[in-house]
Amino acid sequence: MTDSALTSDVAADFVFDPFADGFTDDPYPHYEHLRAADPVHESPLGFWILADYEDVSALLRSGHSVEERHIAPGSPLRAINQEAYGDRPRRMDGLSMLDKDPPDHTRLRRLVSKAFTPRAVNRLEPRVTALVDEVLDRIAEAGQVDLVAELAFPLPFAVISEMLGTPEVDHLRLRELSGTLVRSLEPVVDPETLNRIVDADNELGAIAQDMITWKRGHPADDLLSALIAAEEGGDVLSDDELVAQVLLLYIAGHETTVNLIGGGVLALLRNPDALALLRERPDLAGNAVEELLRYDSPVQMSRRITLEPYRVRDREIPAGSFVIACLASANRDPKFWGADAAELRLDRDNARQHVSFGAGVHHCLGAALARMEARIAISRLVRRFPDLGLHGVRWNGRINLRGPETLTVSV
Ligand code: HEM
Repeated sequence: MTDSALTSDVAADFVFDPFADGFTDDPYPHYEHLRAADPVHESPLGFWILADYEDVSALLRSGHSVEERHIAPGSPLRAINQEAYGDRPRRMDGLSMLDKDPPDHTRLRRLVSKAFTPRAVNRLEPRVTALVDEVLDRIAEAGQVDLVAELAFPLPFAVISEMLGTPEVDHLRLRELSGTLVRSLEPVVDPETLNRIVDADNELGAIAQDMITWKRGHPADDLLSALIAAEEGGDVLSDDELVAQVLLLYIAGHETTVNLIGGGVLALLRNPDALALLRERPDLAGNAVEELLRYDSPVQMSRRITLEPYRVRDREIPAGSFVIACLASANRDPKFWGADAAELRLDRDNARQHVSFGAGVHHCLGAALARMEARIAISRLVRRFPDLGLHGVRWNGRINLRGPETLTVSV
C-alpha cells in the first residue's frame, strides 16, 4: 500500500466532531488528532476544516470570500440558515466589515481604522492602567474572586464603550445579548439557537440605534460621533451599515479580549514556571501576551467561502464551500512551531507569528488594543498578587469564541 492510500484510508474513517463531549473544555487533543488524521478535512456536517499552520495562513490571505451568499445552493449549511432566518432581516450579520469583501470591506474598514492605530491605542494606555488598578484595589481584600466578572469582562467593555463614547448603555443587558449573538460565529448552530440569535440581533440593533440617536444630540470627540459624521456625509456609510459597524465593534471589542485575559491568566496559573518567569522578567510582558494568544486562541476559527475550486495539497475543495481555518490548531502545529508547540514558553522567539488575529485583509483591527489591554491587565495582576492561586474554572461552552465563563482565584 502506498503512503497516500494509507492517508486516504485514515481520512475516510475520521470525523472531526466539535460537538463531542468535553470538546469545549479542551479541544486541543481533537485538533492534534485532526492534524494527524486528515488536516484538510471535509466534515459530514457540511463544512471543510484546515488544521495545519501553512494551510490556515494561506487560506486567510487567499482572497476567498467572507460573504455567505457565496455558499453553494445545495450546501446543508445554507438549508439550516434558511430554515432559521427565512427572510427575517438581520442587523449585524452581513453588513459589518467582517462579512464584506473588498471594495465594500475596504470602504468600511477605512472609516473605523484611524481609531485603532498603535499610536491611537498608546494614548489609551494611562486610562487602561487606571481602570485595571481600580479593579485590583477593589479585589485586594476579597479573598476569592471571579476574575472574569471582576476584570476580564468589564475592562474591555469599559474601554470600547469609552472609545465609542457611549457611557449610557445598559451593560448587563448588552452582555447577555452579545453572548447570544456571538453564537452566530460558531461553525454550526441548531435552529433554536439561530432563532435566539435573530432576536438578540434585532434587540441589539435597536439598542445601537438608540445609542446613535442619543449621540446625534451629544456629539463629542469619539468614534461614534466620527462614524455618524461619515454617515451624514451620505455616500460612505448607510444607516444600516452604521448600526452594523457599531455592533461589530462592541462585540469584537469585548467578547474576544475577555477570553485572552481570562484564558491567559488561567494558562499562567496552570504553568507555575512560566508565571514565575513573568514575575522575574517584566520585560517579557509583551512577548508573554503573544505566547498566550498562541497557546490558547481566544478566537479558535475563521471562515471563508471559496469563490472557485481551491486546491490544498492533494485535495480540491469545490467552489461555494464553507471552509474553516482552524486558528487554534495552526497555533499548535509542531510542523511550524517545533516539538514544544504544546508548551507555554513566554520567551518563545517567534510567538508573534501566531494566527490568533487572523491574516490578510481582515486581520484584526483591534489587535493593538487587545494586546495593550491584556499586557497591562495580566502583568499588573501577577505583580500585585504574588500568591495568586487557582480555585476553579468553568468554560463558556463555545466552540469558536472560547474562554472561561468564570475563573475563581484567591488573591
Ligand atoms: C477581526 C481576533 C480583539 C475588532 C478579527 C479576526 C480575528 C480577530 C481572528 C479576523 C476574522 C477573519 O479573518 O475572519 C481577535 C482577538 C482579539 C480581538 C483574538 C482579542 C484577543 C478585538 C478588539 C477589537 C476588534 C479589541 C475592537 C475594539 C475587530 C474587527 C475585525 C476583527 C473590527 C474585522 C476586521 C475586518 O474584517 O477587516 N479579530 N480580535 N478585535 N476584529 Fe478582532
